[in-house]
Amino acid sequence: VAAAAATAALPLGLAGCYRAVDTTGQVAFDTELPIPPLAEATIDAAGRRTFELTAQHGRREFRAGRQTDTYGFNGDYLGPTLRARRGEEVGIRVRNDIDEETSVHWHGMHLPAQADGGPHQPIAPGGTWEPAWHVDQPAATLWYHPHPHGRTEAHVQRGLAGMFILDDDRESELNLPREYGVDDIPVIVQDKRFDDDGQFDESNTANAGMLGDTVLVNGAVGPFLSVNTRYVRLRVLNASTARTYYFGFSDDQEFAVIATDGGLLESPHWTKRVLMSPGERIEMIVESTPGRATVLRSFPPDPDERVFGDSNGGGDSLDILELRPASELTDSSDLPEQLATIPRMVEADATVTRSFSLQGQKINGQRMDMNRIDETVLVDTVEVWEVSNDHGQYHNFHIHDVQFQVLDADENLPEAKGWKDTVFMPRRSRKRLIMRFADYVDPTMPYMYHCHLLRHEDQGMMGQFLVLGPGQEPQFGSGEHEHD
Ligand code: C2O
Ligand code: CU
Repeated sequence: VAAAAATAALPLGLAGCYRAVDTTGQVAFDTELPIPPLAEATIDAAGRRTFELTAQHGRREFRAGRQTDTYGFNGDYLGPTLRARRGEEVGIRVRNDIDEETSVHWHGMHLPAQADGGPHQPIAPGGTWEPAWHVDQPAATLWYHPHPHGRTEAHVQRGLAGMFILDDDRESELNLPREYGVDDIPVIVQDKRFDDDGQFDESNTANAGMLGDTVLVNGAVGPFLSVNTRYVRLRVLNASTARTYYFGFSDDQEFAVIATDGGLLESPHWTKRVLMSPGERIEMIVESTPGRATVLRSFPPDPDERVFGDSNGGGDSLDILELRPASELTDSSDLPEQLATIPRMVEADATVTRSFSLQGQKINGQRMDMNRIDETVLVDTVEVWEVSNDHGQYHNFHIHDVQFQVLDADENLPEAKGWKDTVFMPRRSRKRLIMRFADYVDPTMPYMYHCHLLRHEDQGMMGQFLVLGPGQEPQFGSGEHEHD
């Protein structure tokens, strides 16, 4: 108890003191995995699908006898799963019932900047915001969370996050598990640290931010999933604020990654491990053996690779979710070998190359300024963004509005094969991202790019870009869009 209190009081920059967490074999798995409800929607005469989300205060007993103050959407912790189909018009009525300003961003969604829900679309306490857009991108596992400048970590950490599933015709015709909550399971992974009063401890434990010693899945500590089919599809979302996981199973079985951030791969990617930094999603298919349980676990990466650094949780081993198969399983027959078609983008098509250097919680030497446009992009052109992490610790990099491809990526990683909106940036690494900003010209409203380690984002490791039409000038910074 004394040690925990002392840790909480330590100032920043204690990286060298991080003590590895090992929960393997110690988690009881005595709670049935809760499944976030699918949000109800109303469909109006014009066919628009409208959801209602209210950010609110709550309390939850994560551990017996301890109440924790929380935030949630339409409930006390996390939010319902939103679901829409390519081609649909979607509207969301967002209400802010917490006692400070917030916003709600649709992470991974291609949509107009005015609907993006970044720091320029604040919702005052008691206020509402009603963005709408046309869904035009492949089936994917996306998510939503607040994005108020400087407060994102706190709001997400306290529970404001949810999944946003998109469907399309291609995905629907494949023989994949797709019964929500039955064999198609949202797996929202977050790590927490509780203080002596049972409240979330939001203090720094590492340079990455807060690294917890307790893992929640869909808001539950020590969950198990009853499995009744040979294959289950796990839609894994790393909704942690700082922690990068290196997922695998306790029995070391292989699983098939079928989708990355922006949708299906061309074919299943079989592997025993997958690394996920904050904000990233993958969909995996896991084959179960009747009656034989296995545990989704985060392993320490090979120490030789030193991808996280021990002081950022690289030495941690965490038990996360037990899959508990029945003694007889419904056989859903073979998985498809062909999933989606992904047109490869090539460097020769790029008209612009930009460089982004991540260093000292800054990008290109600057911290976020809501009144400054950092980049202007010409609509419907292909760009290469060269991101380098010149730092001795890891970061990641997320771009709003687009799904990109990673050029010359390691073929052993799913990111070489599918659409991404967030990439892990190991220390001293460089990645080249290629993308097209297809439409949604708006000289008055920027999109964001940033490190998705939320402490870093809040500290200003973020920049703003506009998508402009040919010959168009930015019309931003006059003061009309700012708030303070
Ligand atoms: Cu998931 Cu800019 O955010
Ligand atoms: Cu960072």
